[in-house]
Order: sequence, then structure tokens, then C-alpha cells
Amino acid sequence: HPLDSLIQQLPKTELHLHIEGSLEPEMMLMLAERNGVTLNYADIDAIRAAYDFKDLQSFLDLYYAGADVLIHEQDFYDLTWAYLKKAHQDHVVHTEIFFDPQTHTMRGIQFATVYNGIRRALDDAQAKWGLTSKLIMSFLRHLSEAEGFEVLEQAIPYLSGIDGFGLDSSEKGHPPSKFERLYARCHALNLPVVAHAGEEGPPEYVYEALDLLQVKRIDHGVRSLESEALVKRLVAERMPLTVCPLSNVRLKVYNDLKLHPLKKMLDMGLAVMINSDDPAYFGGYVNDNFIACRAALDLSDADIVQLAKNSFEAAWMSDAEKAKWL
Ligand code: HPA
Ligand code: ZN
Repeated sequence: HPLDSLIQQLPKTELHLHIEGSLEPEMMLMLAERNGVTLNYADIDAIRAAYDFKDLQSFLDLYYAGADVLIHEQDFYDLTWAYLKKAHQDHVVHTEIFFDPQTHTMRGIQFATVYNGIRRALDDAQAKWGLTSKLIMSFLRHLSEAEGFEVLEQAIPYLSGIDGFGLDSSEKGHPPSKFERLYARCHALNLPVVAHAGEEGPPEYVYEALDLLQVKRIDHGVRSLESEALVKRLVAERMPLTVCPLSNVRLKVYNDLKLHPLKKMLDMGLAVMINSDDPAYFGGYVNDNFIACRAALDLSDADIVQLAKNSFEAAWMSDAEKAKWL
């Protein structure tokens, strides 16, 4: 298809990617063997068969279990490098990745082990391909705010290599307001913040992320469409929504990609772009998301180009860096 080459050749950024969610079954098995970790799955097919999620929580249970194979700094390097290679192939020229340190520190892995492995891979990708990146440390919202403060304390020595903070994991029952004081502390450190909101949670959570957490972007945000007033505000503020179409279908936010509101959101003037979220678990990387959306939602060339443009508009790059690509 001629549009596939447009998708392939367009420079783009990715702004919503959990590095732990890029752990492919092949690497999960390889690391399990390398580290002597016992998995509950016999082979790759058994792992893939488990990727039949009914909602966000059923995915998270597997995502956290999979992360158990990540033990050494080299494991975090290998994981990150595999993602960066794929991103480079997709002509992603700038990526902003989430990592969930609490997933690892809770298992007794040192913060430094996690951070150093990821950081070294990001630096290598910049040196090798000029692929620039930002690293966003995410707090797990199913844990307490006090636990968030604890991991933030551990991050202090590494802040020169951490570019912002985020909030992920189980959304329902864990509103942004639960983390208002923690986010105030992040702002005091002069770093930008984002939060997952309006993926499974209601529009009120998007309002809280905007007003209480003062976020620079909303991750997902698709349920904002349930409030006309909220949509008006998001359009007026040109607030970026980091939409993840294949993720939304796999986690049953929408039962079919044809029902996904991406195109509608674009037409409304919302600052949306396409991201892969957890590509190993949701059936594809960023170009796979573009290709599937183009087919299901009948996106035009102009739509594809606008989505890529929006991905630069919302990126934490200088105007000079953006000018290289726009
Ligand atoms: N939503 C919430 N938490 C997550 C996700 C997601 O899509 N992926 C990894 N952690
Ligand atoms: Zn996410």
C-alpha cells in the first residue's frame, strides 16, 4: 500500500512507551534462562496465549510478573536496546520512555541497576543513530503516595538523567488527587510531569490531572470525549493526549479498532498522536499502530502527516531540534 511507505518514511516521535512493556516473549524466556528465573510458561506460544486481556488489571498482572526476569543492569540494557532498535527501524527519531522503578525496587533490585542499564542504552542509541530521548520515571498509582515519596528519594542522585515524572498502573480507584503532594514535590524539582488519565477512569480524573497535578500531557485521555466541556478545554489549551490505539483495543476500552475515536479526536482539533504503550503485549510497535489505524479508520495522507506533526509538537525537544524534522 502506498500509504505504508509514507508511514514508514515519516520521521516521528513516540511519547507513550513503557520500557517494561517492550519485553518480547523471546527475551522474557532468554532472560529467565540467563538468570535462573522460573516462568509459569513452558514456551513462547504459552506466553503469547496469555495475552488475552479482559481489562487493564488483567494485563498489569502479567506485565508485573514478566518483569521478574529483569535482574541485572545488562538485562535492562538489553531490553531498552531491543526497543530502541525497533523504534529506529520505524523512523522514530525521538522517544520519551517510561520506566517503573517500583516494579523492580519492590523485588529488591537496586534503583541504580535499573537506571544505569536503561540510561546506557539511551545514550548508545543517541551516539549510534542520533536517536534522541527523554526518560520519564513513573509512579505506580496502586501503591501509596508515601511509597511514591520513597522511590523519589532514591531517584535524587540520578535526576540529571531523569527528564520528568509520570503516573501509571491501575487507574480506577486511584485518582490523580491521591498524588497531589508527591507531584508538588516533583514540580519543586523543576521537572515536567505527565499522568495516565481517562484510559479506564472517568473525565474527572483528567480534570484532576490538569488542575491538581499540573500535567504537560495526558496519557491516553480517550474518555475525555464523555465531557464536552473537557474536550473544549483540551482543544483550547492544545493539551497533548498520548493515544495508544492497539492498547485500547487489547484492554477492551474499545471492542474494535474501527470504534476507536482517534480520527474523530484529530478532526476535533485535539493534539493527539499515535503511540504503542506496551508493544510486546499489545500486538505492535508505533508503525504497526499507524498501519492498523490507517486501515480501520480510513486515515488520509494528511491525517497521517498531522499525527506525526502532533508527535513533535508535544515532544520535550527544543524548537531547534524540532526544526530538523518539521
Ligand atoms: N495503563 C496504565 N498503566 C500501565 C499501562 C497502561 O496502559 N502500561 C503499563 N502500565
Ligand atoms: Zn501507558
